[in-house]
Amino acid sequence: MDNFTFHNTTKIIFGKGAESSVGTEAATFSKKILLHYGSGSIKKSGLYDRVAASLKAAGVSFVELGGVAPNPRLALVREGIALCRKEKVGFILAVGGGSVIDSAKAIAAGMPYSGDVWDFFTGAAVPKEALPVGTILTIPAAGSEASTGCVVTKEEGQLKRAFNTELVYPRFSILNPELAFTLPRNQVANGAADIMAHLLERYFTNTRQVELTDRLIEATLRTVIDVAPRVLRKHDDYDAWAELMWAGTIAHNNLLNTGRDGDWGSHDIEHELSALYDVAHGAGLAVVFPAWMKYVIKHDIPRFVQLAVRVWGVDQSFFSPERTALEGIARLEAFWTSLGLAVRLPGIGVGSDRIDEMAAKCSGGGKREIGHFVSLGQKDVDAILRLAL
Ligand code: NZQ
Ligand code: ZN
Repeated sequence: MDNFTFHNTTKIIFGKGAESSVGTEAATFSKKILLHYGSGSIKKSGLYDRVAASLKAAGVSFVELGGVAPNPRLALVREGIALCRKEKVGFILAVGGGSVIDSAKAIAAGMPYSGDVWDFFTGAAVPKEALPVGTILTIPAAGSEASTGCVVTKEEGQLKRAFNTELVYPRFSILNPELAFTLPRNQVANGAADIMAHLLERYFTNTRQVELTDRLIEATLRTVIDVAPRVLRKHDDYDAWAELMWAGTIAHNNLLNTGRDGDWGSHDIEHELSALYDVAHGAGLAVVFPAWMKYVIKHDIPRFVQLAVRVWGVDQSFFSPERTALEGIARLEAFWTSLGLAVRLPGIGVGSDRIDEMAAKCSGGGKREIGHFVSLGQKDVDAILRLAL
């Protein structure tokens, strides 16, 4: 196991009706806040009204900025920064999914910065301070509610890029599984795929002697495999939603990569798909991950066998190690298919015509390698995308 520091500072407030405390939680940071949300699901569900009432009761006034798109855009981030400066807000409340939360994080880091916020995404600058952010999560998926990550798309050049800093750990995140009852089926499936991808990215490591985190990842994967079909069968199954929502947070709050390295190549490749085709992140991962697994399988067959046996219950007495490993990948594909996800590029409306471009962008024109479990260059990314056709 590697040395590590684990310091996740996000306060989690979990359970039925939890959003009623948002006013008092926000008031501890500022009496003037930005309320940030997406394309209207929170107005349709009545959540917006409950949040506004709770803020008012706590004496918190707010300006609002809705309209965050899935795969959040830089233009709205810039608008949010200008609004926060003009209104002198002291706190940002994100109500929604990963897209809204990431947009809020970018605004939070951009507001006190004198340069262009995109500098953080290119690596030209590192955030030194950020407004505090809080969240009310409405979809178990990205894990941004307790992560250091922030992913935004720059329209010009179709670039989807991320930065990470502990400064944007949400100060609190409110998780009420009931808020997910209104999710459309495809978003449930996309979310489940993203949660599983976060677990798998951590699972594929070259670090040895990481039995505890291996087992924790396997248990979380098995939980998602159990509960995702349940919430699709019965959209108001609170207990199943509660498991899925907590799994989504645990999968990405950095607990499960303590003492180990992860891979993250599949995420980098998926971001190119989202950037060019505006596909949902989870839907893109369901296509990229199995192809990536098949491409790198020979790097560490015992690790793939362990996953197949412990998570998918493959009986290795029937198969060679390589066949056991491949059977594990086939079961992952079958599971995602059963949720309604496509596991090949044409199923998400992507052909072969722009694979060269995606491979080039992903590897910085051939100048950078992605992935830690296996390091991949432009040719490898190209081959993985073609394997996904
Ligand atoms: O915009 P609204 O109207 O709210 O609708 C959203 C959106 O259309 C809808 N939705 C959310 N909750 C709902 C609901 N509809 C009905 N009822 C509800 N309760 O679902 C759609 C998708 O929302 P989005 O926020 O885009 O989903 P998700 O949470 O999957 O976030 C995806 C984004 O997060 C990034 C992804 O790249 C992508 O941009 N990620 C962020 C990470 C991080 N910050 O740590 C890590 C991840 O790997 C990921 O990259
Ligand atoms: Zn993800």
